[in-house]
Amino acid sequence: MRLLGIETSCDETSAAVVEETGVIARPWAIRSNVVASQTQIHREWGGVVPELASRQHIRDICGVVERALEEAQTGWRDLGAVAVTQGPGLVGSLLVGVSFAKAAAAAAGLPLVAVHHLAGHIESLVLQNGELPLPAIVLVVSGGHTSLYLVDSPGRYQLLSRTRDDAAGEAYDKVAKLLGLGYPGGPVIDRLARTGNDRAVALPATRLTHADRNAPALKGDLDFSFSGLKTAVLRYVRAREAVPPGPAQPLFSDCEIADICASFQRIVVRFLIERVFDAARRFQARSIGVAGGVSANSRLRAELQFHGELREIPTFVPSLQLSTDNAAMIAAAGLRKFRAGSIAPANLNADAALAL
Ligand code: KG4
Ligand code: ZN
Repeated sequence: MRLLGIETSCDETSAAVVEETGVIARPWAIRSNVVASQTQIHREWGGVVPELASRQHIRDICGVVERALEEAQTGWRDLGAVAVTQGPGLVGSLLVGVSFAKAAAAAAGLPLVAVHHLAGHIESLVLQNGELPLPAIVLVVSGGHTSLYLVDSPGRYQLLSRTRDDAAGEAYDKVAKLLGLGYPGGPVIDRLARTGNDRAVALPATRLTHADRNAPALKGDLDFSFSGLKTAVLRYVRAREAVPPGPAQPLFSDCEIADICASFQRIVVRFLIERVFDAARRFQARSIGVAGGVSANSRLRAELQFHGELREIPTFVPSLQLSTDNAAMIAAAGLRKFRAGSIAPANLNADAALAL
């Protein structure tokens, strides 16, 4: 069976055709995965502008779906279902995908499957690597989320913890903006950090000792927090602004910028790695996965692999293309839900704060 996936939750318009392989260990194969990124549009504003995002989705969605079908050499009649991201995300952006998917499914007489965006990120790991040894600890780390899940059977995701404030990717984006490095911040900080000294700038590692009053169902001791770290970088910049180097000189030299990036990245990655392996030990996980935009980070990938080998637990990440937002992961999660018998009603609505 082939399924068309559609993703429009943030600033990427994406459509993909994914097909079942019949092989249990590696259930799905990508036939096409088309992503139209809006980065150039939002870069000018230093972040995603929701109103511009939804308008651009409207312009792009038809062409992106047509191209995904064409590249997959697939007609509407060859499809078994349509899956779409229902949430969470920007409501205007989500609505474009949900409306398109509902109309397309109705017109083609196909069942509709509603997918949670983070379930898509989790299933990107299976799409790339085949079924993970379970139970697995999966960290979804992106611009909007930093959430830790226990996956004890395929398609069952149990939330263990999340960030109390900024997501890790959001912290990358804010720190990059602060340093005048542009948007999105993750890839540029990752690149500059490679030449920096990661001990040059003393930044605090956040220690959470109390439970989260906003999430009483969670224990809280595996939670994340990144706003303190971002504020520490802000203070470091402000201190320099108070004593600027000289009229013709930049606030920071290229070397200093690289040092700040490396020092910031060391703390973020250590926090993520510590939590993930702590959870894996507690829940006796047989594998670890890290997915979402920030899983593209070179240091995070290297440390994940290093600690995995050290502790003899297999670790998994998606390919770089599958780590940032894309519809192939939504199609994969859609196939999983479809096989579990989950069909969305014809009056499906987008849900900006959908829980998983
Ligand atoms: O999953 P994604 O494409 O969109 C969301 O669902 O948010 O993630 C985007 C986030 C951005 O914050 C971006 O800065 C971050 O992923 N990112 C990275 C890297 N590449 C993208 N963060 C750190 N290092 C990277 N190499
Ligand atoms: Zn995402």
